[in-house]
Order: sequence, then C-alpha cells, then structure tokens
Amino acid sequence: MRKGISMKNNITIIGLQWGDEGKGKLTDFHSEKADAVVRFQGGNNAGHTVIIGEKVYKFNLMPSGILQGKLAVIGNGVVLNVSRLTEEINALKGDFDISPKNLLISEGTSLIIPGVHPEMDAIQERANSKTAVGTTGRGIGPIYMDKVGRFAIKAGDLLELESLPGKVEKLLFLHNAIRRGVNEKEIKAQDIINYLNECAQFLVPYIGNVSQKLYEIKKAGGQIIFEGAQGSMLDIDHGSFPMVTSSNTIAAQVSIGAGVPLSEIGFVLGIVKAYTTRVGNGFFPTELTDETGEYLRKSGAEFGVTTGRPRRCGWIDTAVVARTVYLSGANGLAITKLDVLDGLPELKVCTGYEINNQKVPFLFNAKNEYMEKAIPVYTTLPGWQTSTKGIKNIKGLPTNARKYLDFIEKQVNSPIISVSTGPERLEIIEIAKPVL
Ligand code: IMP
Repeated sequence: MRKGISMKNNITIIGLQWGDEGKGKLTDFHSEKADAVVRFQGGNNAGHTVIIGEKVYKFNLMPSGILQGKLAVIGNGVVLNVSRLTEEINALKGDFDISPKNLLISEGTSLIIPGVHPEMDAIQERANSKTAVGTTGRGIGPIYMDKVGRFAIKAGDLLELESLPGKVEKLLFLHNAIRRGVNEKEIKAQDIINYLNECAQFLVPYIGNVSQKLYEIKKAGGQIIFEGAQGSMLDIDHGSFPMVTSSNTIAAQVSIGAGVPLSEIGFVLGIVKAYTTRVGNGFFPTELTDETGEYLRKSGAEFGVTTGRPRRCGWIDTAVVARTVYLSGANGLAITKLDVLDGLPELKVCTGYEINNQKVPFLFNAKNEYMEKAIPVYTTLPGWQTSTKGIKNIKGLPTNARKYLDFIEKQVNSPIISVSTGPERLEIIEIAKPVL
C-alpha cells in the first residue's frame, strides 16, 4: 500500500425508499470514527432526527455527524436557507457550539432566499391541485430551477458583496415576470441585497472550498461519511417523476454534490425502513388506508419532521428496494424500525406488481403515471408478536423476525449489516461493519 492512502473506506448513506428511513440515526452511529460528515444534496426539506438519552435533535440542514463532534460539511449540491441554518445553530448552542472549526460550507452552495423561493414553490403548487406534488413548501424546486438556469445566488457570492446588484437583478428578472403573471407583488432588488448582506455577516467565516478540504482529509488517511437526504424514489431522474424532489438522491450524486471522484463514494449503505412510508402525492402500491396503516403511523410516530404532516404508511415493497439497491449499488443495508412491526400478527411483503395484466417482477420504470396502475403481488409472512425493542444481538431476535429479514435480503440482493430496534443511538444490532 502506498503511504498516505487510507485503509478506511468512506461511507455513503442513502435512503432506499421515499425518505424518512432513519438515515440520521445511522449517520450518527457511523460517524463516531469518521473525520467529516457531508451533506451533498437537498436542503431544509430534509428532516433528520437523532435521539441521545433524553435529548431529541431534529435537523433540516446540519449534517447529523455534528453530534459526534465531527466536521460538518455542506456541499455544493445542497440548497441552503441561511435563516434556517442560523436557527439550527442557535438551537444547538450550549450542547454543541458551532464555529468555522466544525462547520464548512461550499462556495458553490445555492442560496434559498426567503420571500423568493418558498413563495414560488407555493405559486406552483397552487396552480393546479390535481398536479400538485405536495412539496414541503421550502422552495426546493424553484432554487434548483434557478441553479440550472444559471442565475442562483451562491454562498461564494457573499464573498464579493459588490457583485450582488447585478446578480440579484438577473435572479429577479424571471421571478418577477412570473409574479406579475399571477398578480403577485414584485420583489424589490434592494430588499434581497439587504438580506444577502445580513447573511454574509453570519455565513462568510464558514465558506470555503469543500472539494479541497475533503481531498486533504483523505490524503491524511481520514474517513468521510456522506449523508443522503430524501430517498431514492424521490430522485429527480430515477424516482417517481414528477412526484419527486428536485435533486438527485442516489449515490452517484455524492461525486457531483461534494466535489469528490466516484471512487470516494466508498461503502454504500442503503437505509430501508421495515415497512414503507411516503409524504406528499404519488404512487404507493402497498399503502394501507385501514387500521393497520393507522397502527404503523402511531407506533412508528410517522409524522414529518419538517412539516408535521402525517406520513402515508404501508407494507414493505421489495420491488422498490431491489431497484434502488441497484441504482446506488448498495453494498449493504441497514433495516430500521423493526420494532414497529412487533404487534402485527402477519406481515405482507410486496415482491412485484401486475400492471396492465402483465407481471412486473422488477421496477425498471418508476414513472408515476405508469406505476399508478400497479397492483402489488404479496407474500405473507407470520409476525412475531413479541417485543424486539432495544435488542442488540441478532440471535436475540424472534425466529419470525429473522425469517422476515432473511426474506427481504433475498428479494433485494444486498446483505443486511445492521438492524435498528428503537429510536435511541444504541438500540441497534450490528451484524457486520461497512467495510469494502
Ligand atoms: P420538495 O422536496 O419540498 O420539493 O418536495 C417534493 C416531494 O418530496 C414531496 O412529496 C415531499 O413530501 C417529498 N420530500 C421532500 N423531502 C423529503 C424528506 O426529507 N422526507 C420525505 N419526503 C420528502
């Protein structure tokens, strides 16, 4: 081995369903030995919960690894609402003091501007209730539109305040044209410039070159955790379009959203909830609108961290997970919230669909219109009806719980390396380490 090359592979944590799989807990768990934890896409549409003892931490933007005292990094692929980040930093004060020593924000990060992007999100959602996505209302779609349109304001622009008037004028050209069209008040450039000047006072010390920093960490033999947000089925290209978020959520995005080569993605750990949830509109073949769905919602506390919306709940769909394992090349899986299923006498697992009278065993086409016609094909397995809460050893699980996990593993073609049996940091069964 050449000197300076680390044996420690990086870990990329990806949600393999529609989000809310429990990525925050697994990021926290694996970041103990890491040197940096990096967000590489999404914004404050995400909601990550980490529970340590009596304390519940809820983040929208801050990488969860901050709780392990690691360098938290916000990559260029993230869309950043500075006001929201300030609130999170203030809420952490006392427990974890944030300084430029433990928080780095890429110059390339695009800025969500209150009064501009969330409002455009609302205008689009209001346009037609039949085609509304059911977004989080945080302005995610509009800021990514501005980024691709090449007129988003970037964090690095706050280092050159004199350049802002021209950039803000460019930003508002389209926003105000649309606003005039729907009889909304035009946005004044000076208000945005004033807001960005305020942001600069807080943000500038944290802004730096993320790609370079991550290069240096690896060169020194360090380990990086890449913390995904949302889930693979919400990926703008490969998810249930158009009922998706506006970023790429699969593992390949790590390279683009953090400025590292594909070889640095490392071990791809796919996070899979033991059942399925979805927030917002779009297909969901295994959705349960009966008392079992209600049981999952209650027992799993399935309410959105970001918006408080009740999550739609249903059986696990291994046809979905087999597809998303494939898309991200998941090297291993963490199954979360197994304990939520403790009370159920039997469990159904969707292994494929019938669509237009044809059997569809693998989900190659996840477009919403096509999948809305899908009828799930189920295998029914017996439940275990005894508590698995807090179990830390695989041998301690009831036989039927192990059979359920074995069945899932076989269907999705990736090994289960850990199982979470409760919301707390240490309520977890570690079967294998995420080592390549
Ligand atoms: P947006 O990301 O706010 O534009 O919302 C687009 C879709 O993604 C909506 O269905 C949201 O409910 C969903 N979504 C966005 N972020 C999350 C998340 O972190 N968890 C679950 N669903 C999400």
